[in-house]
Amino acid sequence: NTEKLSSARFAEATDAFVEVFTASVDFDQRMAQQDIQGSLAHAEMLAKIGILSAEELNDIKRGLTQIAEEIAGGDFNWSIKQEDVHMNIEARLTELIGVAGKKLHTGRSRNDQVATDIRLYLRSEIGTIEAQLTRLQNALLVLAEREADTIMPGFTHLQVAQPVTFGHHLMAWFEMLSRDRERLQDCCKRVNVMPLGAAALAGTSYPIDRQMTAELLGFSRPSNNSLDSVSDRDFAIEFCAAASLIMLHLSRFSEELILWSSAQFDFIDMPDAFCTGSSIMPQKKNPDVPELVRGKSGRVTGHLVSLLMLMKSQPLAYNKDNQEDKEPLFDTADTLINCLRAFADMMPNIRAKKDNMYQAAKQGYATATDLADYLVRKGMPFRDAHEVVGLAVRLGIETQRDLSEISLTELQQFSSQIGDDVFDILKLEGSVAARNHIGGTAPASVRAAIEAARAQLQGS
Ligand code: ARG
Repeated sequence: NTEKLSSARFAEATDAFVEVFTASVDFDQRMAQQDIQGSLAHAEMLAKIGILSAEELNDIKRGLTQIAEEIAGGDFNWSIKQEDVHMNIEARLTELIGVAGKKLHTGRSRNDQVATDIRLYLRSEIGTIEAQLTRLQNALLVLAEREADTIMPGFTHLQVAQPVTFGHHLMAWFEMLSRDRERLQDCCKRVNVMPLGAAALAGTSYPIDRQMTAELLGFSRPSNNSLDSVSDRDFAIEFCAAASLIMLHLSRFSEELILWSSAQFDFIDMPDAFCTGSSIMPQKKNPDVPELVRGKSGRVTGHLVSLLMLMKSQPLAYNKDNQEDKEPLFDTADTLINCLRAFADMMPNIRAKKDNMYQAAKQGYATATDLADYLVRKGMPFRDAHEVVGLAVRLGIETQRDLSEISLTELQQFSSQIGDDVFDILKLEGSVAARNHIGGTAPASVRAAIEAARAQLQGS
């Protein structure tokens, strides 16, 4: 069937280029299975309200099942003459089963059909994304547990600030991903509402049972307003915003992995299987996976902005502009799933170079705050303590020694309140162990956080 859509109204055939220009089948065929699923539910409902006979319903089911198989097997003949996935499938159905195929579109429009397809597609993608998020979070928990006692420098301004444990750092990543999961789940509540029945924009004069279709398709409920249902894509924008934040987090993790695997930091060993060499420099081992993920985060944010711009000036109700929602949306989901998967695969194979991390924490006067806190406990006001420790650090820098390497007599020239119990707190181990409270970096706190996180992950 190569006849023009609603051809009776037109005196002229569509311009050949316009046909190509307006077609979406090249990319929206991706939603074929969802389209068929939606049509099956719609047909079921039409039969229940007496618009289709039992026989017609059977024909439709048989035809759509065969089409689903043809598509899955790569035997379906997609044609841009049929513009999009919806028309391609309907035309093939009529070809296969005759007149019943022409009745399927009763009480429906491509406008509510496409909105339904996108929501079904997105709901399933969110499921896949959540599964990958869980894999990555589990990998982080395993690594954090292994590195709960590993001391590294914590940074502010990328300058050594205070010692932390590597496990604590990894659990910071875990927290970001937990919020990302909540955002996805929240977004999914609004994705999982059914537009079908809105028809073109105003609803339909047939006595349709939207509750029934919603239940058949696993939607939580039918949408409230037909105009809104066919026109807004805010649910897709929300998804892209949630996806952008996940990618932003992965990009930050990537940045750290890249820095840490440089010779200058040398904190971690990246698994060979996730790195590549150079075509010219034989010694190179490049952290390609995190670099690529960092790069792809820009692409996903770009898609978010595309969808925002796509939507912002559209009057109610459906406009063809919305055909442009699919490519950014599909690419967002694909990119995100791939990046999460790469990270989840890579994470368990990252090795911490504990000695290097420890030495780096020792070099940066990371326990200076601990010395100030020590003086405060001895009765000195914090601002004075800050001053005293500043002098001690200066001596350390001038004589190239860590605070713990300066002798007691030398330290006492800055304050007589310093006693020989000071050396315990100047040690990195003492510094991290002291931060033993909810959210603190002490190994004990980190282990408690891991345990709570594991329980939370099992429940989600
Ligand atoms: N291919 C269209 C889209 O992606 C389907 C809806 C078309 N509706 C219409 N009235 N032209 O949005």
